[in-house]
Formats: sequence, structure tokens, C-alpha cells
Amino acid sequence: MSLELQKDNATVTIGDKTFTTDVLVGTENEMALDLQALRKNTGVIGLDPGFGNTGSCKSAITFLDGEKGLIRHRGYELQELADNCNFLEVAYLLVLGELPTPHQYRQFMEKVKENNFLGPSLQELLNHYPSNSHPMAVLASVVLSLTGFYADLGKEKFYELDMDVVRLLVKTPLIAAHNYRRKRGMKYIIPDNSLGYAENFLYCMFGRSLDPQRRKIMADAMEKLLIIHADHEQNCSTSTVRMISSSNANVYAAIGGGIGALWGPLHGGANEAVINMLEYINMTGGNIDAVIKRAKDKDDEFRLMGFGHRVYKTYDPRAHIAKAVVDDLLEKLGVEEPLVDIAMKLEQVAIHDDYFVSRNLYPNVDFYTGTAYKAMGIPKEMFTVLFAMGRMAGWLAHLIEFRNDEDRRISRPRQVYTGAPHRSFVPMDQRD
Ligand code: SDX
Repeated sequence: MSLELQKDNATVTIGDKTFTTDVLVGTENEMALDLQALRKNTGVIGLDPGFGNTGSCKSAITFLDGEKGLIRHRGYELQELADNCNFLEVAYLLVLGELPTPHQYRQFMEKVKENNFLGPSLQELLNHYPSNSHPMAVLASVVLSLTGFYADLGKEKFYELDMDVVRLLVKTPLIAAHNYRRKRGMKYIIPDNSLGYAENFLYCMFGRSLDPQRRKIMADAMEKLLIIHADHEQNCSTSTVRMISSSNANVYAAIGGGIGALWGPLHGGANEAVINMLEYINMTGGNIDAVIKRAKDKDDEFRLMGFGHRVYKTYDPRAHIAKAVVDDLLEKLGVEEPLVDIAMKLEQVAIHDDYFVSRNLYPNVDFYTGTAYKAMGIPKEMFTVLFAMGRMAGWLAHLIEFRNDEDRRISRPRQVYTGAPHRSFVPMDQRD
């Protein structure tokens, strides 16, 4: 077998079969072989468990450079968006492709305010979940149940978008906040349309028990953390949303599946796992070496949570932003958080240890975010829900991009079969 790469095409020769295909070049000069006709022309498929070398689509939403640690949304550097926008402005950019004009932003806010509530039946549905249900399980299942509340209303439009997009952006934090309260026997709080996205969430969660000045400090930090979680191209949960959408399942079914994928500790669940790891180190007297040793031990499933990334082979730029947000938040709240000191020590040990350096393992977006949420008094089991609130914008953007893709097809990967060869059936009474 041979592969010959020219400027704009490539020739794959397998045995006596030759397959010539286009080389696709992206905006930032990334290159891809178009393999859609590979099997038809050669009878051969590619095998790439975890899709580390396989592109599932073309996309105009986010560009990542894992070697340089770059992330841009619709061409804008993430740092610039985090410094200058609020979360809903970035959500608008991701979903509609452009930053909103003042008029467009006012129209968007009108739609947000119209949907800024949970009706009595949704509140009632939440009240029936067992009080020990994990918030991600509740969020995933309630989002799926929204099909029953809004499926027929989905045809109402905001620009060319179904209103489902606005509803999911607006109601996700309200579901999360009311679930927090009903688990503690507290009543639903009517959202406040005068507050921004993050501050409204904190108000619906903590009510008047949270001093408005502290709430504003926390909300400013949370808006930035939601922005850095908003999108990350074809990550596990976003790819899941695309895959479910490819069967023409409705938006709530696709997003419900994305929430389930995000929950895993190797993905969005890592932020909760990082805090558990830091608390373990704290409880064992700051024994960082023991954790590093376990992370390096091939016979131990333990991994250094918040470290490593499929794409970034250098610092995750979002980790830098998150660390700056944490430092600023703790200073303004006047909070000492020992876990941050432990995280910083752990980071310094790991980034100078050959095991991590040789595998390009650096802090990722989840390494610091949990310390911010902990300082805000948000319970650990809700950290991944906060991740889902941010990523809702990216999931919706990719779902819409997929729906508008003329080349879209149902996702149906191939496999290499390694099971038993053909054999004849043996009736039960002849099996020993
Ligand atoms: C997110 O894809 C995205 O964009 C995700 C995300 C997003 O915004 O959507 O960025 C969000 O999910 C961030 C990642 C959060 N997860 C964690 O922090 C969990 C800990 N990290 C890992 O489990 C791991 O690094 C992954 C899952 C993030 C990436 O896994 P890969 O790309 O499949 O890497 P791998 O398992 O092939 O590891 C390569 C080597 C292996 O060692 P060797 O077999 O070469 O000897 O690195 C080792 C791994 O054992 N390794 C780690 C490690 N991560 C990888 N060893 C110890 N601790 C770790 N954290």
C-alpha cells in the first residue's frame, strides 16, 4: 500500500487498486483527504478508534490549534471575547455566525426575557426526581422531556432559528437552579429580567440569601467561565449532538444526548473529579507525590484529572483564562481557597515531570474552574452542569450548522469484524 500526496490531490494504491482523491485545505491551511469514496474504489476502510485522526465534518464555528494553544470562535480570539463580551453575546456569535449589532442584541434579549421562566408543570416535574439524583441526570432527562412541552411550538422562529435554541439557552440555568433548590426543600424563585444571564442564575439558585454585591462579583466571573466553555469544535459531547441530529431526531433529543456524553469524568465530568482529587490531596496532608505516582502507574486507572487533552499538546489557553478568573474572584470575595494553592503546586510538579512533559500533558480547561465554582458556594455535583450551561451555545451552533449542511448524512461508522468465523447452529440439547 502507498499514499502519494500532491498539492491538491492524493493517490492511495492498495494492491492492484488505485484511488485518487482531493486534498481539502481549511481556512488555516489544515489539510484532509476526502475518503468518502475510499471503500467503493478499494474495498478498504480506515480504522481510527477515538477518531483522533479523522474529521467528521467541515465547520466554520471554532478553530483550534493544539500545537500553538490557539482557540478562535468565528475568527475571534477567545481571550478577546472573554474580555469584552457577556455569555449571551458569544452564544449569539456561535449560533448565528456574527457578533450582534445593538438592534440585533435588543431583539435577542427580548426573546430571552420572554422565555426566562419555568412553568408550573416543569417545576412539578423537577420536584418528582429523587432528592439524591445527580444534577446531570436530572438536566439530561428534563431537557429530553422538553420535547413534550415545546415540540409543536418549535416552529416559531428567531431569525431563521427555531425558538428551541433560545429556550434551551434560557431554561438550562433555570432547570439547574430550581433543581438545586427543590432538593433542599426550597421554593422556585421567579427569574429577574433585570439581571444578566449568570447573575439571574445565581439569583434563581441562592435568592436573597446571597448579597447582591457578592452576587455581581461571582456573576462577572461566571460569565467568563461560561464563555470559555461555550464551544470546542468536535469534542465528544458536540460530536454526540451531531451524531444524534444526523438521524433527524429533534433538538431536545440531540442536546439530551450531548449532556450525557459531557457527564463522563474524561470529558466535562473532569471538573468535579479535579476537586475530588485536590480535596484528597488536602486531606492526606498535601501529599502531591502520591497522586503523581498513581497517575504515572500503568497498573493504576487513576489519571491526573484536569490534565491532558486530545487536541492541545501545550497549555489549554482556557486554563490560563480560568486561572486568572479564579485569582481575581478569590481576591474580590476575600476568600482563601487552599485547593488553589494545591492545584498550583500540583501543576508545577507535573509540568516539570518527564512523564507528563514527554506526553504533552498540561492543565486543561477543567483544572481550575472547579475552584471558582467552589468559592461561589456551588456544590461539586453541579460543576459539570455549569459546563453544560456554557457548552449549550456550542451544541446548538453545531446542531444548526449540521442541519444546514447540504452534504449531511446519517452518521454510521464502519468496523473491522474480529469475532467468530461462520459456524453452524447447535440445538440447545446438543450443547455441552
Ligand atoms: C475536556 O475534546 C475536547 O475538546 C474536550 C474539552 C472540551 O472543551 O470539550 O476540552 C473538555 O474534556 C477536557 C479534558 C478533561 N478530562 C480530563 O482532565 C481527564 C484526564 N485527562 C485524560 O483522561 C486524557 O488526557 C484525555 C481523555 C483528556 C485525552 O485522552 P487521549 O487523547 O485519548 O490520550 P491518551 O489516553 O491516548 O493518553 C496518551 C498517554 C497515555 O499514556 P501512554 O499509553 O502513552 O503511556 O498519556 C497518558 C495516557 O495514559 N495520559 C495521562 C493523562 N492523560 C493522558 N496520564 C495521567 N494523567 C492524565 N490525565
